[in-house]
Amino acid sequence: MNLKSIILTLILGLQLNFARSESGKIVGGEIMDITNVPYFVSLEHFTRRFICGGSIISNFWVLSAAQCKVDVEETDMRVRSGSSRRLSGGQVHKVLKAFIHPNYTDLENPSTEYNFLMLKLVNPIIFDDKRQAIVLAVNPSMYKQSGSALALGFGKTENPTQSSEILRGVVLELINDYCNDGSSILNKVCVKSPLKGVCAGDIGGPLESIQFGTLLGVVTHNDHLCGHAVYAEYFGSIFLVNKWIYQTMDNNQD
Ligand SMILES: *[C@@H]1O[C@H](CO)[C@@H](O)[C@H](O)[C@H]1NC(C)=O
Repeated sequence: MNLKSIILTLILGLQLNFARSESGKIVGGEIMDITNVPYFVSLEHFTRRFICGGSIISNFWVLSAAQCKVDVEETDMRVRSGSSRRLSGGQVHKVLKAFIHPNYTDLENPSTEYNFLMLKLVNPIIFDDKRQAIVLAVNPSMYKQSGSALALGFGKTENPTQSSEILRGVVLELINDYCNDGSSILNKVCVKSPLKGVCAGDIGGPLESIQFGTLLGVVTHNDHLCGHAVYAEYFGSIFLVNKWIYQTMDNNQD
């Protein structure tokens, strides 16, 4: 072996360990304080089992992924706001009603497109420095220049001494226009970030445009090579469901 192949083997070995050590959580991220991302919430079962991440989009509404609703009754669901910790702190809100996007049909095989869930809360969230709504991205052409986005979630990291109970964020580079599979930002949001990414534990969590501070997508991961793929196409696009979100809110005011 020459020096170059030894180095390559080492790097590849590290990458594989990196990918395998993740049992489904955010990879390569930094600890985030909720006051910097006050739109982040978590979904839990009332028995205090963590389910998914989510985003506050108005006082009464939370957006997450459809696959988070499988096997959970909405009356058993809780939303925890204003906390950087998993299953503790902040405030817990009851869910009045859950809406899965009508085009999300294959519950057994979660896909990225239309993988959206809206939750209407029983009582409104009172906004403060730890609780705010994030504005939805509306103009896709604004996001076609390459830029970066912040994905949020809880989870284990590659370093076992790092807590898996604290909110983490990872900055990902958006891919211009088209994903690997040819779909565009109108259907999926694709990112390019070797050795960084998101995994199963982060499903439903937000992808925020760093340039505009708007919500671009929702994490919908179902690939076992967490954080390993050079290109990742695991974010449901807000542009595909904007209209449905506004209609659902309009049709379900009290
Ligand atoms: C569901 O998919 C169809 C076909 O792609 C599309 O025309 C329709 O607008 C979608 N429904 C919603 C609510 O977005």
